[in-house]
Amino acid sequence: MSCVAVIGAQWGDEGKGKIVDFYTEFANMVVRWGGGPNAGHTLVVNDDKVVVRLLPSGILREGTKCVLGQGMVVDLAVLLGEIDELGRRGQKGIAENLVVSNRAHLVLSYHILVDGLREARQGIGTTKKGIGPAYEDKVRRTGIRAGDLADFGKLAKKVEAALDQWAPIIQAFGGEVPTVDSVVTPLEPLAKRVLPLLGDTSKIVDHAIRTGGKVLLEGAQGTLLDVDHGTYPYVTSSSPVAGGAAVGAGIGPNRIDTVIGITKAYATRVGGGPFPTELDDSDGVHLREVGAEFGAVTGRPRRTGWLDLPALKYAARVNGLDGLALTKLDVLTGLKRIRVCVAYDTKEGRVTDFPIDLIDEPGRATPVYEELEGWSETLGNARVLDDLPLAARAYVRFLEEGAGVPLFLVSVGPRRRETIILHNPFVGRAAAP
Ligand code: IMP
Repeated sequence: MSCVAVIGAQWGDEGKGKIVDFYTEFANMVVRWGGGPNAGHTLVVNDDKVVVRLLPSGILREGTKCVLGQGMVVDLAVLLGEIDELGRRGQKGIAENLVVSNRAHLVLSYHILVDGLREARQGIGTTKKGIGPAYEDKVRRTGIRAGDLADFGKLAKKVEAALDQWAPIIQAFGGEVPTVDSVVTPLEPLAKRVLPLLGDTSKIVDHAIRTGGKVLLEGAQGTLLDVDHGTYPYVTSSSPVAGGAAVGAGIGPNRIDTVIGITKAYATRVGGGPFPTELDDSDGVHLREVGAEFGAVTGRPRRTGWLDLPALKYAARVNGLDGLALTKLDVLTGLKRIRVCVAYDTKEGRVTDFPIDLIDEPGRATPVYEELEGWSETLGNARVLDDLPLAARAYVRFLEEGAGVPLFLVSVGPRRRETIILHNPFVGRAAAP
């Protein structure tokens, strides 16, 4: 058996799309376990670019089963829109390869309404896709699950109960409470198409692992956005860490063999919240412009900064990382010197652990940087570490040592071949890209 989880080790947008796509080639099943249409990655279908928010990129590979697990919140219109869009571009066999958990929760119109109203007043910079309110309904036990689409009589009663809870909040923000009908009626045509896709995904994923399948658990968002382990309250409402993968996919944690953390060679964040190594100088502009750091879902420019080693070590701990995939190393080309946060100065002295409880108070924890030499060579042709310029190699080794996690892969450009592979857990040895 082999089951590999790929986790964002920073604030999301670590370049997971390319890495997941690389590992998907070796997997027969790809499972998304958490989050919803707040994620986004770009697929290339017959030379055309399509941004998908729910479907895993494995959907483009014939014979790869794609699963949306029960930890997800699914917006049916988005899901069907993606299926239709890929279909229009000639992609076949989508419905045959896709299973959606009957226990995944639905993102409904009132979740998007509440998310938008709250963001307009006192937001934290969410993606406004209704994610937080959908998870709120789930834990308040007033959520609507995909399996509820089988019985519209019961579903309408559940929507009514949920709207009772939301009405005072919607009114307090000056919004108009939707009627049950206006929520339920548009779901009917969508339900007809989605019901045949539903299944008990926990059983399906567990069975695949037990019978020797190669299963890839595809993370969304990142460790520092995790509702338990992130920079609360500036977090998403799900559990993007490795522990969340077991819960959201519906498998035992001991079924996961390998956990890979993805980190950029620098750092970015979208939305509000602390970002201690953030830059507002020309280096920050370089990272944004050269790295094309604009949100795939919202188009927002991402905040940019230096890599934070204490934060990466924190991600290594809370996820139990076995390996690191380092992305976008090529974006650093052209910087004269590169800084890395190696510790924090606090009132209690210098610490090398990530002071997650202090960083939202200005001045309580100041990053301490080490400066490394930059390089000017392009990196896209490097296929082994020795192909890298000396300074880039030194940088990569510095990060690996500092994080205390072995490097599995280094990405040196957006294309598939622009990858240095040191270890592939699906095949147990280096594989050519
Ligand atoms: P929400 O997930 O839309 O509720 O947003 C909560 C926070 O998570 C905001 O700061 C978002 O910008 C951030 N966030 C959610 N999904 C992603 C993602 O896929 N990449 C990066 N940030 C995200």
